[in-house]
Amino acid sequence: MESLTIRRPDDWHLHFRDGAVMHGVVPYTARQFARAIVMPNLSPPVTTTALGAAYRDRILAAVPQGVDFTPLMTCYLTDNTDAGDIAHGFASGVFTAAKLYPAGATTNSDSGVTDIRRLDQVLERMAEIGMPLCIHGEVTDHDVDVFDREAVFIERTLAPLVARLPQLKVIFEHITTEDAVQFVDGSGPGIGATITPQHLHLNRNAMLVGGIRPHAYCLPVAKREKHRLALRAAATSGSTKYFLGTDSAPHAREAKESACGCAGIFNAPFALETYLAVFDEERALDRFEAFASENGPRFYGLPLNEARISLERAEVKVPELLDVNGTMIVPFHAGETLGWRLAG
Ligand code: NCD
Ligand code: ZN
Repeated sequence: MESLTIRRPDDWHLHFRDGAVMHGVVPYTARQFARAIVMPNLSPPVTTTALGAAYRDRILAAVPQGVDFTPLMTCYLTDNTDAGDIAHGFASGVFTAAKLYPAGATTNSDSGVTDIRRLDQVLERMAEIGMPLCIHGEVTDHDVDVFDREAVFIERTLAPLVARLPQLKVIFEHITTEDAVQFVDGSGPGIGATITPQHLHLNRNAMLVGGIRPHAYCLPVAKREKHRLALRAAATSGSTKYFLGTDSAPHAREAKESACGCAGIFNAPFALETYLAVFDEERALDRFEAFASENGPRFYGLPLNEARISLERAEVKVPELLDVNGTMIVPFHAGETLGWRLAG
């Protein structure tokens, strides 16, 4: 296959940030995707309908003229989230979903939830109104090894939650383990998962062998090879439970290349190209459209995009460094050559 024409895809998980960097980042995503689920972990976070509506307007102001792109906003859940406010945000179309960050799990998650049982009322309300819950699925207990935090989250938090609220639509975000794949496969149709390109390409050796590579560090952290292979099998399996979510998370170069480097990989500039490399290697190009453009909207209960895009086989050199409206950021696959590009 030399080219591929598919429905315009959506990105079901990414970070746009705010201010000048956001203005630099949004065009990369809007060029490739019709919609994106925008994460609310700003500082301070997007915790109310009013903040969500204001952030949406700032993003829309950063979309280049003539480009059709819709940001889908999420509400950052805290111990004090007001169920009435997020239900109002959902009903009025400001929020598409709410995001659960266990407190301290990742970048800007300090205001996250300390104990999921504090959210019982909020989650019951979300289940009632059909508002999806996006979950960063890692425990933060200090006694749990960072490589085990996702598997332990399934056992301690996610499985009990799904048993308590079987009606709640849950997206297990950026899954990184075979355990997560088994959990999602074994759950009902209300449980889906996003998979990032970095977790399809990298295992933990890629991050730690031959020197520590801060640009391969994100959370949840890449795991052993057997987990990467399980994720590749899940993404290309044809199961409707898995969909595209880049988790593109820009950080300035110096914040990554530091004694205490930030978690996050900026993959937005070549997002489709990096996923296509995987589907090509797995001989599953015929399954890419479902993963990129169909499974996500169907899970969220949103219409499929009508526009089409074409991708073609061609060598694309990824720059070593990008000037993102004044912030220097090292993109995913920096310096490498990828084998597909977006046509037109
Ligand atoms: C994300 C960020 O930088 O906001 N970082 C990351 O490693 N993925 C937060 C997140 O999604 O965990
Ligand atoms: Zn994220």
